Amino acid sequence: MDRDSDIHALQHRLAEAGQSHLLWFWEELSVSQQQELHMEVKGLYLEELGQAFQKAMKDSSHLPGQEIMDAKMEPVSHEVLGSVTRNRAQLSAWEKEGLRQIAQNKVAVLLLAGGQGTRLGVSYPKGMYDVGLPSHKTLFQIQAERILKLQQLAEKQHGLKCVIAWYIMTSGRTMELTKSFFLKHKYFGLKEENVIFFQQGMLPAMDFDGKILLEEKGKVSMAPDGNGGLYRALGAHHIVEDMEMRGIGSIHVYCVDNILVKVADPRFIGFCLQKGADCGAKVVEKTNPTEPVGVVCRVAGVYQVVEYSEISLATAQKRSPDGRLLFNAGNIANHYFTMEFLKDIVNVYEPQLQHHIAQKKIPYVDIATGKLVKPDKPNGIKMEKFVFDIFQFAKKFVVYEVLREDEFSPLKNADSQNGKDNPTTARHSLMSLHHCWVLNAGGHFVDENGTRLPAIPRCTNGTSDAIQADVNHNLKDASDLPIQCEISPLVSYGGEGLEEFVKDKEFHAPLIIDRSGVHELVKNGL
Ligand code: UTP
Repeated sequence: MDRDSDIHALQHRLAEAGQSHLLWFWEELSVSQQQELHMEVKGLYLEELGQAFQKAMKDSSHLPGQEIMDAKMEPVSHEVLGSVTRNRAQLSAWEKEGLRQIAQNKVAVLLLAGGQGTRLGVSYPKGMYDVGLPSHKTLFQIQAERILKLQQLAEKQHGLKCVIAWYIMTSGRTMELTKSFFLKHKYFGLKEENVIFFQQGMLPAMDFDGKILLEEKGKVSMAPDGNGGLYRALGAHHIVEDMEMRGIGSIHVYCVDNILVKVADPRFIGFCLQKGADCGAKVVEKTNPTEPVGVVCRVAGVYQVVEYSEISLATAQKRSPDGRLLFNAGNIANHYFTMEFLKDIVNVYEPQLQHHIAQKKIPYVDIATGKLVKPDKPNGIKMEKFVFDIFQFAKKFVVYEVLREDEFSPLKNADSQNGKDNPTTARHSLMSLHHCWVLNAGGHFVDENGTRLPAIPRCTNGTSDAIQADVNHNLKDASDLPIQCEISPLVSYGGEGLEEFVKDKEFHAPLIIDRSGVHELVKNGL
């Protein structure tokens, strides 16, 4: 087909889909811009897109009212629940089982790193962000080193050399930068063939009438199709086959922005296996009824995540006899899947997943004036699928509760925006945790006069749940700067193995413990 008839065919398709405006500025574009726009528009599944838009808009306007949702909701049942605080006696057995699976090369991790990080506001992928730790490690490096350490721990326990394959989902906007960053840093010590990148799909942004927006006169406004775009991307790029070829049995899925994430957490994996689960969610306790976090619960008997906005305040405030919130299983997008389950999702259930609609302020080129408009209120929508929407298909779903201060501190906002989930809170969370590890291993911190600094109460082993809850609450409100302490993941994955470095010793902060030893930065004049 020659170029002219190709363009005519495209014009025809666009007219049928009510999207002719996409070629409005065609004559003003250079030949190369025309070619790019042509390619871009040709790649859009216009009919499917139109249907998805209609369905998502209809679903979002027919959401059950809060009262209807309230009436259908039940909390996570005790039989499917595991907890790091209430099941302390079982933790080491779960850990052992997880490490056994890792030693047999049966565990893979899957990183969701295709987001745009608009709130953080940097032009590069979030995993490349340095939150300002003494070592200046990026999120990618921290995660890579946790994988390396876990491989070593599993090898040590079982005498088998092993690999945790790391699958990294990027998007059209983050792929090249992510890949070149890993290449530049020699995969942070991992083997290149065990770090597998793949790209999620993109969808165009639309106005409220379903008209696709132009970002430039010759460029469609595209955005990644949500972290639930994972399942389609896994199929499209034959990732499931790669996992099967490697003999993977368990997959741990997590988000790039959680600085405390326990990548391939052996306890979580061991717990899910021991329960015979095909799908599991790690959660943290929601303690404040108005915290805008989704909760894992049953709705009409089926597990799902219910957003804070979907339920009434009265339901969000309900408490159990033990005083905790009734709906307290805060979702942190940290999941376990068996290979079989993931295969079913990718091959069978993915088309059933609904798109969610997010109203956004989307810069666009105004067709009437040809000018770029930067709206100050939402002017359109992005359609996204969510990673957790597959809970409904699980045959045996389990929930594993961990401590927020040990495992969850996401990087969402820039420091300038607000005091929550930003580089400062991420850095402080990691250093507070590492401070605890030193104390728990018998080390102490002293001030410039040699006086011991008070220990953080939550660190002491055997703290009761009541004291723990109280301390957690205080920590959240504390404006005190944490003691600067950073332990390389290459030295310790979760606080283990530190006695030889710190027991009965006193340190001045800032303290770094890495493979080359213990460094007190001020004392050593660093
Ligand atoms: P968020 O929903 O917090 O989005 O992603 P974000 O892109 O990081 O930040 P904002 O909303 O633009 O400010 C949660 C996790 O899901 C991944 C992100 O990379 C992050 O790990 N994600 C999100 C994807 O992998 N793909 C997407 O399309 C969206």
